Amino acid sequence: MSDPFAANLETVVDRQTGDGHIARQVARRRTFAIISHPDAGKTTLTEKLLLFGGAIQMAGTVKARKSSRHATSDWLEVEKQRGISVASSVMQFSYGDCVINLLDTPGHQDFSEDTYRVLTAVDAAVMVVDAAKGVEAQTIKLLEVCRLRNTPIITFINKMDREVRDPLEVLDEIESVLKIRCAPVTWPIGMGKRFVGVYHLLKDEVLRFTPGEERADQEVEILRGAEIEKLRATCPREFEQMRDETELVRGAGASFQLEDFLKGKQTPVFFGSGINNFGVREILQALLDWAPPPQPREAIVGNLGAKGESRMVAPDEPNFTGFVFKIQANMDPNHRDRIAFFRVCSGQYTPGMKVKQRRTGKEMKVANAVVFMANERSRMEEAYAGDIIGIHNHGQLQIGDVLTESELLTYKGIPYFAPDLFSRARLRDPLKSKQLNKGLRELGEEGAIQVFAPLVDNTLLLGAVGQLQFEVVEHRLQAEYGVDAVFERAGIHTARWVTCDNAAHLAEFARAQQQRLARDVDGNLVYLADNRVNLSLAMERWPKVQFHDTREHGQTL
Ligand code: G4P
Repeated sequence: MSDPFAANLETVVDRQTGDGHIARQVARRRTFAIISHPDAGKTTLTEKLLLFGGAIQMAGTVKARKSSRHATSDWLEVEKQRGISVASSVMQFSYGDCVINLLDTPGHQDFSEDTYRVLTAVDAAVMVVDAAKGVEAQTIKLLEVCRLRNTPIITFINKMDREVRDPLEVLDEIESVLKIRCAPVTWPIGMGKRFVGVYHLLKDEVLRFTPGEERADQEVEILRGAEIEKLRATCPREFEQMRDETELVRGAGASFQLEDFLKGKQTPVFFGSGINNFGVREILQALLDWAPPPQPREAIVGNLGAKGESRMVAPDEPNFTGFVFKIQANMDPNHRDRIAFFRVCSGQYTPGMKVKQRRTGKEMKVANAVVFMANERSRMEEAYAGDIIGIHNHGQLQIGDVLTESELLTYKGIPYFAPDLFSRARLRDPLKSKQLNKGLRELGEEGAIQVFAPLVDNTLLLGAVGQLQFEVVEHRLQAEYGVDAVFERAGIHTARWVTCDNAAHLAEFARAQQQRLARDVDGNLVYLADNRVNLSLAMERWPKVQFHDTREHGQTL
């Protein structure tokens, strides 16, 4: 069998940049996020990856942070804690010859549109599945977002040290529910108390499991050839089952294909136990060997307003470019400073460089960008495609904004997502409606929440994908705009952006459905459905109207 571990570093071609310095740096980058349902083991795996990567010395660092968050119901306290979560939301460390950027996808109470947007800034994802529970709701949602860009996914089936489900059944569920083919790379031998280890299908080795949170540098025992056969005597049932199942898997032709993985069609699957450090090294190795370095991204070039050609921007082009995918507001009302999380897409960042912003046409100097390490932030000295830098600003930057050194452009693939939760803001002091509208408009532009203006009503509607977004907006309205508002649930199930090639038909639709229509911050028409049935009926009745569940930032439909 050819060795797929040997693949992939040369995929980024040295060109354009005289000495190939940028191309070499890009080839070293791996930028990924971990997706999972709460409690599957994301925090544990994050911590173990950092431990193996040498970024933290001791287990418990990330976990302690997780449990300290939300330990209090006092909002300001929560926000203080979030100061820490800023630092932990991007973690850079080196492993082997690679520079790894691990982006946190906020989960639990932190779940918000940011969770989705983070996935637009990564080149790969690690999906953690609890072996006892299989595919769960939040994983389904997050994988749908990965699908938008065909992001390659590595699967880690966790908690094999427990009594879990039959591995074949779990793989079947991943294939049928998530519509992605599975290529097992390791296969479990037993489970729970009788978890012996995993068989590596590509290397023909057995990695022996030893329970306990041993240190990251401790070697895993590896069995080869006749040593593997000896397992037949010590744990016959588990061994035979593994042999039968791997034969079945091989017979089904589910072998790993790098190309299919890179297209997001197939996922290599690893079994392990995060808490016991088992299987973590294999995930890191798969990231190094198989996960793609930053790839070319599609952009529209030219000034704002111009129709603009689209072209692929290569990560090793000398022109520095990138986009904002997340904004973290500082809750101190006296300092409206914010950190914009910026994904570099091409060129090289150097402190003090001057960049242009296509949306406003303005020039800005990026002097004090920060890089995020496991426990702290420090000044960024240089960054390349795949890296995430934090840019301090006072509200000039919005989600989706592109900064470039020379050629003006906009990146595609940074969408708004149809919200699932809706509220109306009710003022305690009716005289503050002007401030309320201003605040909501600005917070909407920044991406903290989505704001819709119904066609037949003048109360603004707010849409979010996570409850926390409402809490943040409520607090920021008070702190930054002096507006005391309460949010009341609106009886809306979901929203869809609507378009139609035929203007007369769209006008007819708008007249008939005006009670259910609104405009978003960019003036696009949005259909607000009371329930699922309502939406499917409208789609059936108006077949020429298109209903979209995402919309690109800055795009007028
Ligand atoms: P999350 O970030 O996806 O929400 O999950 P997290 O890592 O916090 O893990 C959820 C729970 O599952 C934790 O237990 C954690 O210790 C446990 N866990 C993670 N990986 C494994 C594993 O490989 N095997 C077993 N048996 N358990 C695992 P908890 O009781 O909620 O927290 P704690 O008291 O252990 O901190």
